[in-house]
Amino acid sequence: MGKPLCTVLFLLLFVNCCFSWKKDEFRNCNQTPFCKRARSRKPGACSLIATDVSVSDGDLVAKLISKENNQENSENQGKPIKPLVIRISAYQDGVMRVKIDEDQSLGPRKKRFEVPDVIVPEFLEKKLWLQRLKEEKNEDGSGILSFVYLSDGFEGVIRHDPFEVFVRESGKKGKKVLSLNSNGLFDFEQLRDKKEENEDWEERFRSHTDTRPYGPQSISFDVSFYDADFVYGIPEHATSLALKPTKGPGVEDSEPYRLFNLDVFEYIHDSPFGLYGTVPFMISHGKSRGSSGFFWLNAAEMQIDVLGPGWNDEFSSVLMLPSDQKRVDTLWMSEAGVVDAFFFVGPGPKDVVKQYTSVTGAPALPQLFAIAYHQCRWNYRDEEDVFSVDAKFDEHDIPYDVLWLDIEHTDGKRYFTWDKMLFPNPQEMQMKLAAKGRHMVTIVDPHIKRDDSYFIHKEASQKGYYVKDATGKDFDGWCWPGSSSYLDMVNPEIRSWWADKFSYDNYVGSTPSLYIWNDMNEPSVFNGPEVSMPRDALHYGNVEHRELHNAYGYYFHMATADGLVKRGDGKDRPFVLSRAFFPGSQRYGAVWTGDNSAEWDHLRVSVPMILTLGLTGISFSGADVGGFFGNPDTELLVRWYQLGAYYPFFRAHAHHDTKRREPWLFGERNTEVIKEAIHVRYMLLPYFYTLFREANASGVPVARPLWMEFPADEKTFNNDEAFMVGNSLLVQGIYTQRAKHVSVYLPGDQSWYDMKTGTAYKGGATHKLEVSDDSIPAFQRAGTIIPRKDRFRRSSTQMENDPYTLVIALNSSKAAEGELYVDDGKSFQFQKGAYIHRRFTFSNGKLTSSNLAPATAALSKFTSDCTVERIILLGLSPEPKTASVEPGNEKVDIELGPLVLREGKGQSVLTIRKPNVRISDDWTIKVL
Ligand code: NOJ
Repeated sequence: MGKPLCTVLFLLLFVNCCFSWKKDEFRNCNQTPFCKRARSRKPGACSLIATDVSVSDGDLVAKLISKENNQENSENQGKPIKPLVIRISAYQDGVMRVKIDEDQSLGPRKKRFEVPDVIVPEFLEKKLWLQRLKEEKNEDGSGILSFVYLSDGFEGVIRHDPFEVFVRESGKKGKKVLSLNSNGLFDFEQLRDKKEENEDWEERFRSHTDTRPYGPQSISFDVSFYDADFVYGIPEHATSLALKPTKGPGVEDSEPYRLFNLDVFEYIHDSPFGLYGTVPFMISHGKSRGSSGFFWLNAAEMQIDVLGPGWNDEFSSVLMLPSDQKRVDTLWMSEAGVVDAFFFVGPGPKDVVKQYTSVTGAPALPQLFAIAYHQCRWNYRDEEDVFSVDAKFDEHDIPYDVLWLDIEHTDGKRYFTWDKMLFPNPQEMQMKLAAKGRHMVTIVDPHIKRDDSYFIHKEASQKGYYVKDATGKDFDGWCWPGSSSYLDMVNPEIRSWWADKFSYDNYVGSTPSLYIWNDMNEPSVFNGPEVSMPRDALHYGNVEHRELHNAYGYYFHMATADGLVKRGDGKDRPFVLSRAFFPGSQRYGAVWTGDNSAEWDHLRVSVPMILTLGLTGISFSGADVGGFFGNPDTELLVRWYQLGAYYPFFRAHAHHDTKRREPWLFGERNTEVIKEAIHVRYMLLPYFYTLFREANASGVPVARPLWMEFPADEKTFNNDEAFMVGNSLLVQGIYTQRAKHVSVYLPGDQSWYDMKTGTAYKGGATHKLEVSDDSIPAFQRAGTIIPRKDRFRRSSTQMENDPYTLVIALNSSKAAEGELYVDDGKSFQFQKGAYIHRRFTFSNGKLTSSNLAPATAALSKFTSDCTVERIILLGLSPEPKTASVEPGNEKVDIELGPLVLREGKGQSVLTIRKPNVRISDDWTIKVL
């Protein structure tokens, strides 16, 4: 096809699908048969009872049969319900797993899909081998219960009739923590043979028809969270952090939260509509008990209702729900798969996140450069453009670490190639940037141009590596390159083949400083149903696309990250940004919140979106700074930089139709203010990196809702305007134009110190603060120590040997503590112990640095000659004049100095200058 015709076609398609959110292009619950059916069921409708309860292979197993077994049952399209098998397993640290599937011994039509490759092998080793099953009869009329030990203080229980599964605090009167089917909404549609023609065997939406060769196969059930005030999680939606009820009294006509990975252009904020990624994990929190969590490992389309108080009032007489416990009820509906559910007992919010990431894996530790500032745009036109942008950063003294190239850098959207006119010397280009310690990222999408002269397509089609359509032919859909096919990444052989494509030999023009961006991996198919792949497309193992849709992008991300590891001989940590995600994505890299808009509301919603991702394991995330679509006015752009500097992933990006918006294009004053925002991020890199390591070790996210740090403070429970970076910093965004004041709630009973001025504010109070254009409010919590690097360079790499500043914010007992984690910022040697991990403690006028790394001999060592050049003391009086450093008993001066270098204003603060102790050593500094 000639170029002009291509362009016209492209524009037609693009205009059609990109410039506004077309609600009608996407299904709502009423247009989604399984959702409509499940939502209309009445509480108590489930007629299943548990029989044959026993312990087998260390698990509690039972059969679920219909009370009126073998009778015609309208719930299953008039088919007799065959018994289901339920298996309950206990794992260390308070995790209970519940699997429900068809009974394999009764020869179901086929094995239903269970998502492989998500649960980490270490988790399976934590299984507790259950030995004993106890039984009790409940006096409240709820019949016989069988229960097993789950963890100290908790039991896993199955009620026989009607069937219900729950976790309770140990003992007959133990309070419930979490339960499944307490409202009797459980339903499991079994696979069927096609005997008669009716609408069950296909599904229509707009001009698309998907066949359903096994009939409807959905599963739905209710889950209740006890002593909970709010529930959170289940990304990805552009909505509030605390999930609003979607059904119940006072809720007008809301859709459920949809979890279906979709390429939604110009998505709207404040909507339960499903976006690019999915994590079916919900966490509850309440003042009286704390947190608990529920995760359903299932990759089919899911819809989840949060049921508002009173939603089941008319049925309360038939349901046996405890009246002395507050509860949040939810309804979970999925199109296919099995029940493979995990209950997490908490009780703290951090415990739940740790329990969840013990199942799906902790976030990978990124390279240091990847947590610095990224400059992106669709597109940097050519090499000259790249060099000019790069030079301008230096000219304006603004650091950045990564320059990104979008789809236009390729030869006709054939990934792994370069447009030879625009990028004739890609290696030299990368090397030029690398000389300044900078990196590049190129985009590699999953749609492969169907062009016989394109090496990837040639091999993939010859080897049969593409997803098939329902007739068994290579699926052919439309995306950026035109007619495209999609690699079947679910197959490990194909993933390994793909991974090899990232070797320097195969990816001609790539160098070690080049990393990767995976986009459109929902997968996006411009002419497919709901801009995606038909549900009856076929994958490896004869799995229907409907069964694994939400995991497609995850597998693509995984294969790409594996490719970068292979490329570097296992020595270089990968960096891959992905738009689609699924549980476990945190092990492979970062995600971003897709195509947001340059609007204040989108700036605002970026915070709950990022916090939600962090709660569900995906700690490394960010939103396009500036907003992808549209042109932000200068004020919005500035505010976005100021907030984005605290996102775990900090990248500016823009659509190709927008005006250029590099930081220096808005006049001297604004350049200065944006520069300051970026500098804040660079200054805090040691703190951020320490937090990324904490996430890597424990799953606890870098950006946290306030209630994660202040779980007993109700005022924080639905605050999603402010957030914590680690446990020491609170950031409040400014989300309105021309704001003169902002109200900030500072939790806890200790003070907070303004990061810029050092002014102390009382905790446990809302403060109305004056704001100016030069920064957004950020506070250091009293009782913490934050490590910083205050000298500004061109990139994070160039800061490697720079000395540290420690900022000590004292609490009312004149004490504080903090941590610093350092390694080579690049390799996997940290896994062998090659790192420095220090604890800094200030008490009784003494600052002590002690080792936090385990005492066991490390297989590999990391050393650093970096020293501490400044120690800032906030909240110390009377003001001391000198300090002595041990060992050596050397005296150093304490002076007044700036809190932030380069600021040139604000209060002077007590500063111990040049103590020159090494960060790798043990030492004590005593204030005299
Ligand atoms: C969609 C992505 O979300 C966006 O960030 C990117 O610029 C375009 N695709 C073009 O690759």
